[in-house]
Amino acid sequence: MTSNTQFVNPRMAELPDYPFERLRGLLDPLAPPASLDPIALSLGEPQHPYPDFVGEILHANRHLYGKYPPVAGTPEFRQAAADWLIRRYDLPQGMIEADRHIAPCAGTREALFRTAFIAVPPEKARQRPAVLMPNPFYQCYAGAAIAAGAEPIFVSALAENGFLPDFANLDESILARTALVYFCTPANPQGAVADLDYLNRLIALSRQYRFTLVVDECYAEIYNGAPPPGALQACAASGDQDLSGILVFHSLSKRSNVAGLRSGFVAGDPEMLTLYRRLSEYGGNPSPLPVYAAASALWRDEEHVVANRALYAEKFDLAERVLSNRFGFYKPEGGFFLWLDVGDGEAATVELWARAAIKVLPGAYLTTADNTGNGNEESPGDRYIRVAMVHEKAVMEDALARIAQTL
Ligand SMILES: Cc1ncc(COP(=O)(O)O)c(C=O)c1O
Repeated sequence: MTSNTQFVNPRMAELPDYPFERLRGLLDPLAPPASLDPIALSLGEPQHPYPDFVGEILHANRHLYGKYPPVAGTPEFRQAAADWLIRRYDLPQGMIEADRHIAPCAGTREALFRTAFIAVPPEKARQRPAVLMPNPFYQCYAGAAIAAGAEPIFVSALAENGFLPDFANLDESILARTALVYFCTPANPQGAVADLDYLNRLIALSRQYRFTLVVDECYAEIYNGAPPPGALQACAASGDQDLSGILVFHSLSKRSNVAGLRSGFVAGDPEMLTLYRRLSEYGGNPSPLPVYAAASALWRDEEHVVANRALYAEKFDLAERVLSNRFGFYKPEGGFFLWLDVGDGEAATVELWARAAIKVLPGAYLTTADNTGNGNEESPGDRYIRVAMVHEKAVMEDALARIAQTL
């Protein structure tokens, strides 16, 4: 987007067009076949049901909609989140205290974004600070880096590295001015899971170069096999329970299929969380009190999460039957996307929409040219499409068959 007005912050011109805006530009001029029901697999918005108790709790607490909710959330919410973290990652007693180490957020996107304003100083090593992120990347990370005045550095996460970015191998000139690293495990879109060893090396790097480490774990509950480890677990496992500079992000959007409830939390460094809450007092929008009540119950319930995971497992089995040996198909370790190597992701997206009424996202819209100065400026997503396996099994069966027939 360009602007010639003198009134805007010129930094805003660095914001790339959002992927879904680009997708509309690509597909809106085309008409899908009238004989087929369109199926959208472009957006990571789970379509599985959420527990009935969500509606019941919202209704029972409806008298609280008249109250301004506190940015720190309710004690009940903070405790439910802390208890879940301790259970899920087998954390030692005392490592996470609900009131010190947990801050709620109205969905993690905004919290991930806001964190850049806390973590990025005006300069680091007397230069423009760098914010590192994997490439492909969740767009929020890049927008946050730019809005906070940093240079986003896109570190390719390629198949040959198990789709995990190699931050430690970056040039010293980048690492020295790195203020913040965004990392996502399981990764959107490739589903790669970082093991404890990877996480511990990344934590050690954050200590060495004194940058804030954000670990986005919003897909942590959707996995195939062993539960993906988390950054707090890595701290506990290494015996180093110092959480300074470390923040993890968890959301109910994918875990509990309530993307519209807008509820998640940040956990980690208590001093950063104090600042986070402080900044939220100025410009944040905490979740309504009935939402905190429903969210607390969701973090305390595992039954719906187990059932949800089983639904995804069935659909990935199905995808394996329909697509195996094609498009570099693999079952992701975590998350709910297929990341398919179709040769030319944008052309395949057009073809799928025009011929099969299937909407997917070109990998190119989630990636950008590698700017780490490693001599390879390729954008690592161009060959791929991202397929969100978010619909019920019957719909996915139809969609996967159409993909296999069309490409
Ligand atoms: C990698 C990643 N992080 C964070 C989010 C934000 O989720 P929410 O704001 O619903 O918690 C998303 C949503 O799609 C995502 O894909």
